[in-house]
Amino acid sequence: MVGSLRLYSDLAYLWPLVSPPEDYAEEAVHWREAIRARLGEGLYRILELGVGGGHNLSHLTSDFEATGVDLSPEMLEHSRRLNPDVEHHLGDMRTVRLGKVFDAVLIHDAVSYMQTEDDLRAAFATARAHLRAGGLLLVAPDLVAESFDEGRVLRWDIPPPSRPGDPEVEVEERLTDPDPTDTTIESWITYTITEGGVRRTETDLHVTGLFPLATWVSLMEEAGFETRILPLPGDGDGCGEHLFSGILRG
Ligand SMILES: C[S@@+](CC[C@H](N)C(=O)[O-])C[C@H]1O[C@@H](n2cnc3c(N)ncnc32)[C@H](O)[C@@H]1O
Repeated sequence: MVGSLRLYSDLAYLWPLVSPPEDYAEEAVHWREAIRARLGEGLYRILELGVGGGHNLSHLTSDFEATGVDLSPEMLEHSRRLNPDVEHHLGDMRTVRLGKVFDAVLIHDAVSYMQTEDDLRAAFATARAHLRAGGLLLVAPDLVAESFDEGRVLRWDIPPPSRPGDPEVEVEERLTDPDPTDTTIESWITYTITEGGVRRTETDLHVTGLFPLATWVSLMEEAGFETRILPLPGDGDGCGEHLFSGILRG
């Protein structure tokens, strides 16, 4: 079966196995430092749009008061379990309005699902609607146009199952850009799952946005954010190497 975003619906049970919370510990240090660098010390109220399983957020909840939003009920369920003190809401980062204001809005790899410049404008407008003047927007797409290679195959680094009965999973992701004149790319993902001694493969298609660094900065500036680009350690495969940090002008 070929479906779309199965990793966040019928295959969401695999998320904690294929991308475990421990894998985010090093990166989360950079997010914490990026918040402190621009806002100073404090127990800030933070909102993560596209919180997913809450793996990155789980490393920030002891320092900040967090709220999370996601489009997928299955992923929200993971995050609720991992982050029981966090308030969670089902919603689309382009349109959700919680009627609350935060000190910082975080959009991690979920921002990669913004396929057009108008999607990005809508997500940044959501961030602005939830921030006080002088608040901080942090955004980290998986890929920017400068680091995309046609046909690249990523093999996810997945630890062996830690609990008896957990499936063993291998994931291979092939990136391709069938139409370089638009702002999207495709990730064709194959999951090889060995469960109860039975091996099967499942396939998934994720269509994501691809924009040059200059577009990220100019759209954040257009939305009212004074923006800088900070380095992130990334996955060693050219993904997740940029953190856009924007302060909302008063
Ligand atoms: C890779 S996962 C995020 C994982 C997360 N960084 C973590 O630490 O667990 C991407 C998430 O983006 C969410 N997503 C995709 N499009 C969205 C949208 N328009 N609004 C909100 N969430 C969205 C998906 O449902 C999925 O949970």
